[in-house]
Amino acid sequence: MAVRVLGIHSSPRKYGNSFKMLWIALEAARRAGAETAYINLYDLSIGPCFACYSDHFLNCRYPKDPSECPLRGRDDYSLVAEAVLRSDAVVFSTPIYWFMVSGVLKNLFDRMTSLENMIYHSGRSLVDGKVAGVLAAGEEAGASTALSWSVFTLINMGFHVPAWGTAYYHGRGDVLDDKQAVSDSYNVGLNVVRLVKVLRGEEIGNEPWYRFLSDDEYRSLVEEARKAAEEMKAKQRRDRPWLR
Ligand SMILES: Cc1cc2nc3c(=O)[nH]c(=O)nc-3n(C[C@H](O)[C@H](O)[C@H](O)COP(=O)(O)O)c2cc1C
Repeated sequence: MAVRVLGIHSSPRKYGNSFKMLWIALEAARRAGAETAYINLYDLSIGPCFACYSDHFLNCRYPKDPSECPLRGRDDYSLVAEAVLRSDAVVFSTPIYWFMVSGVLKNLFDRMTSLENMIYHSGRSLVDGKVAGVLAAGEEAGASTALSWSVFTLINMGFHVPAWGTAYYHGRGDVLDDKQAVSDSYNVGLNVVRLVKVLRGEEIGNEPWYRFLSDDEYRSLVEEARKAAEEMKAKQRRDRPWLR
């Protein structure tokens, strides 16, 4: 069965650097034979966690009876939760906002407590054994805080994060001009697929876990990623009419 990789993007700039990094990672996953899906959290409404857990640890569960849920099905969390549950691996991509992940991604992580907390109801976190990777784009600083916080949180939910499972870019330019950041993003996509296969007991050979891109591969990837970002930008002009 093909590996299913979900990309969760958490920037309002659907054509920006964190989008491009995610596109590269998902393309690497597709080239490794995976099926991919993409969600942008700004297309959805995911409210903050109501901390049912903190009243009593058994109050937090997924799915939750709507009559008990403070949000009463009024937001889109379950759409994302279901997409995560359908996936073998999830790649989260975030802009760095004040040295951290974006607020919408933090809200999602808080809400995903309901998946992890099933360990107290059924003996198993609903994301137990799934694989995750994380990408972060910022201008100057904060990637190491955002990425280390994300990885620490994800492994405490039950996800595995592979070798080279994070990538970042710091700069005011276009991430696609930075071969290191493009290669690192590529390896995130490749390695989440490889780790899912290892966990399934499939043979993956003995290649190193970090794969260097040839100049030709880099050029063609960047060309396709630029096209995808331009398409996203064209689509978003209606919502962001000031876009140049
Ligand atoms: C609210 C806000 C806070 C930001 N904080 C940081 C920061 O702490 N560190 C940083 O390097 N860049 C920061 N930036 C810059 C963004 O991370 C940067 O523009 C990034 O490219 C945005 O990603 P995107 O192109 O995927 O939208 C901030 C931007 C905004 C809007």
